[in-house]
Amino acid sequence: MTAPPRLELRHVSRRFGGVNVVDDVSLTIAPGQVTCLLGPSGCGKSTTLRIVAGVDRQDSGEVRVDGLLLSDDTRHVPPEERGIGLMFQDFALFPHLSVAENVAFGLRGTRARNAARVAELLERVNLPDFGSKYPHQLSGGEQQRVALARALAPRPRIMLMDEPFSGLDERLRDEIRDATLDLLKEAGTAVLLVTHEPDEAMRMADEIALMRHGRIVQQGAPYNIYNNPVDRAAAGFFSDINVIRGRVRGALTATPFGDFLTPGVPDGSEVDIIIRPQHLRIDFDRAGRGPNPTPQDGQAARASVLRARYMGRESLVEFRMDHDGSQLRATVPGVFLPRAGTALWLMIRRDRCFVFPVDRAAAE
Ligand SMILES: Nc1ncnc2c1ncn2[C@@H]1O[C@H](COP(=O)(O)OP(=O)(O)O)[C@@H](O)[C@H]1O
Ligand SMILES: [Mg+2]
Repeated sequence: MTAPPRLELRHVSRRFGGVNVVDDVSLTIAPGQVTCLLGPSGCGKSTTLRIVAGVDRQDSGEVRVDGLLLSDDTRHVPPEERGIGLMFQDFALFPHLSVAENVAFGLRGTRARNAARVAELLERVNLPDFGSKYPHQLSGGEQQRVALARALAPRPRIMLMDEPFSGLDERLRDEIRDATLDLLKEAGTAVLLVTHEPDEAMRMADEIALMRHGRIVQQGAPYNIYNNPVDRAAAGFFSDINVIRGRVRGALTATPFGDFLTPGVPDGSEVDIIIRPQHLRIDFDRAGRGPNPTPQDGQAARASVLRARYMGRESLVEFRMDHDGSQLRATVPGVFLPRAGTALWLMIRRDRCFVFPVDRAAAE
């Protein structure tokens, strides 16, 4: 028999004012696994977290920990008995308690054991000599690390984190994210992390649950979600995208980049062929002849540079396509700054395209 998941949500729904803010959400998280609930503001992430914490209650569905029922229609274990750690953006430390007292706050042990645990954690978050300081004497990043130590001190089986790093400036954020991840992995804690930032989810998550209008629309490893999105919106949530619209004729869609195989889409209907800017190939004009077609990249199409910008790690080049005046964006690693008006040829890597039937409702 395999062990039950550390955290399990089964068909959890929550309504506010007639709207399903959380709509039939099911999710499992194993010990030591980090799952990110990722989605735009207002999609129901925090509500889901609050239900798991027990500070809100679902209208239907179950929450289980290690297979044991925490909450359903009839049963509701109160938050303080759930053994769940919490970390939020506005994580207020207790201002009148020292750092050590803050970290010890949730501990039940003897004084000596608590002191040892506090020292161990302050060591781990790189604040070994901070025990007797007070919160107002700390920087934002230091306060965040104390909050993390406080949340981890009672060895919670599950950690819920709601946009916990969004108050920090960017460089500090990367450092604290990595330190946090190390600590949580080491402790074997199951983590449910809420964020609206795809970069944060990609960086932190073993698994991403992409949420929209209260529903989980796609779930999987970051690699799979990024490279195999379920629809146009899921593709566009992670990066800028180029969309080439076409109409299907006999399982093929003609584009300036040659014919695309678009099987399974009814004849005469429209499809969106989607490509991320880093997967456009740029080639030279060769006196207007362009490159030869290849099996992988298909046919090239001519375009002129609208503008090019250097972004640090990469250059962003915007093109106007000769054939119809539509615009596409490409990113190129390093420095590539062709002048406006330069003629170049574009190809799109077939293996990096996503093809979706045009969904008028979702496009609104
Ligand atoms: N207690 C509440 N009463 C009424 N509406 C709520 C309540 N809590 C959240 N909502 C609504 O539910 C939706 C989802 O909120 P929330 O879970 O906070 O989204 P997210 O964390 O993804 O930004 C929002 O439209 C919000 O206004
Ligand atoms: Mg929220």
